[in-house]
Order: sequence, then C-alpha cells, then structure tokens
Amino acid sequence: MIKSPMNYTGGKYKLLNQIIPKFPQNIRIFVDVFAGGCNVGINVNSKQTIFNDTLIYLIELYLELKNNSKGYIFNYIEEKIKSLQLSKTNQASYLKLREEYNKNKSPLDLFLLSAYSFNHQIRFNNKHEFNTPFGKNRSSYNTRMRENLDKFLDVLHSKEIKFSTHSFEKIDYSQFNNDDLIYCDPPYLISTGTYNDGKRGFDGWNENKELELLNFLDELNKNNIRFALSNVIKHKDNKNNILQNWLNERKYNIYHLDCNYVNSSYHRKNKNKDGSLEVLITNY
Ligand SMILES: C[S@@+](CC[C@H](N)C(=O)[O-])C[C@H]1O[C@@H](n2cnc3c(N)ncnc32)[C@H](O)[C@@H]1O
Repeated sequence: MIKSPMNYTGGKYKLLNQIIPKFPQNIRIFVDVFAGGCNVGINVNSKQTIFNDTLIYLIELYLELKNNSKGYIFNYIEEKIKSLQLSKTNQASYLKLREEYNKNKSPLDLFLLSAYSFNHQIRFNNKHEFNTPFGKNRSSYNTRMRENLDKFLDVLHSKEIKFSTHSFEKIDYSQFNNDDLIYCDPPYLISTGTYNDGKRGFDGWNENKELELLNFLDELNKNNIRFALSNVIKHKDNKNNILQNWLNERKYNIYHLDCNYVNSSYHRKNKNKDGSLEVLITNY
C-alpha cells in the first residue's frame, strides 16, 4: 500500500488493509469525494480516479504533482530546503516560507509547509492564509517522506486521474453508473479535525452537512450507484445518533473496523482502546 506523503489528519492509511478488500473487484470510475491525503484513491485499482476536496489549495498541489516530472518536483523541493535552510529547528525559515506561500500560493510550497508544520497539519484562516505553526523538533522532510512521495508520484503519473473541488452535494452523479464506486470519508461529526469547525475559511462540518451527506448516499443508492462510507458511530463518550438512526432504517452493510489492527503481526493490540467504533458502510 502506498502512504500519502502528506501525513494527512484523518488519513485512512492504517485502515486500508481492511477497507480495500471490501471494495468491488472491477471499478470503472472511483470517486474519492473527500480526498484529503488521497490515501484511499491512490491505492484503488480503477480505470479512472477522481480526487475531490473542497480545500482548493490541496487540489492545486495535486495538480502540480500530476503535471510535472519527478525531476522537476524533487529538484524544486530540495533546492528550496537548501536555499531557505529549512530544518526541524529553523523556525525563522519556516515562517519565511509560510509568508512567501501566503503571497504567491506556489502549490509545491504547500507540500513543504506540511512537511515542517505542527503535526503536518494543513490549516488556513478566514483570509485563506496558511497558519499552522512550526513543528519544532518534530516535523521535517525526511527520507521516508521522500520515498512516499516518490511512490505516490509513480501512481499519479501513470493512472488516469482527474481532480475537482466541489462540495459533495454539488457532485453531478448523473455521469456515474453501477460500474463506479463513490467513496466518502467525510469529517467525522463526533471527532475533530482542523477542517471541522467552519472557522478556517472553508465550510465546516455539522449535523446539517451530515444529514445532507446521508441523503446524497440514499440518492446514489436509488440511482443504482455503488457507494462506500467511512465513519465512526462511537468515539470516546460520543455517539453519532444521526448515523445510527439512518442505518437502523436501511439495509446497508455495516463492517466494523479494528483501528489497532496490525497487518504484519500475529499479535493484536487492545482492540479500539478508547471504545471507538469505526465502520465502513456499503450499499452493494
Ligand atoms: C477525513 S479527511 C479525508 C482523509 C482521506 N480519506 C485520507 O485517507 O487521506 C476529510 C476531507 O474532507 C474535506 N471536506 C470537508 N468538507 C467537504 C465537503 N463539503 N465536500 C468535499 N470535501 C470536504 C476536508 O477538506 C478533508 O480533506
């Protein structure tokens, strides 16, 4: 499995071994509606993949990665690290890069910022300025990230991939049929990512969005289009009753996923220690 070089908040890399086997064998178009780090779509075998996310700057970055050669991309990254002397400890150079990005919005600079930012988070303010603080002593562009980027680029360059920036409800599903798979990994109503609160210059996630999404999935189902939804029904002391009630009234398939599943080991750690219930829901 390929790991996204973005270390994206809420990324599904660790669950891929449980999610991908639940996908159908033959997929014409795979739509990663809430693409984020693209961890899921990049690993799915399909004739065409569409990565969609409302975070336009993220999609701009993927377009830049898709449309340029590996040589150009690695040269850009490595030259910039050298010229700015970016490192785990050089906060001033990180802040300089951040200022530069907020002026020019050069897409590859967003990749570099995410490499050195606190927890690799991508966060914008209401003025659409990137504002994640420096990941002092912890975050940097390292060998592993370089390897992940290298493999990620191999797939981006060899596959038929399209990008879009619609909010999920604006996606025109009349173009899809029952050979396609629409995958949704939305912000979770009962846990928090930086993209959840609606104070970041982008729409947040709330009960209305959740209901709209469930309605969107019902519409896909009525139109004979396959969907898969990732979500959590329980997290710590919170329960997603909207999702649970919706499921109670329908006959969709619910697969429980083990968040601490370790594929390469015979030993399993404690199952979902914090009592969270992570699921994949499908209509096929
Ligand atoms: C949980 S993350 C996806 C993680 C991804 N599956 C991965 O493995 O890397 C959710 C994503 O949904 C995006 N998002 C939030 N609201 C959206 C909306 N209304 N329509 C489309 N994307 C949205 C956020 O920008 C964020 O990138």
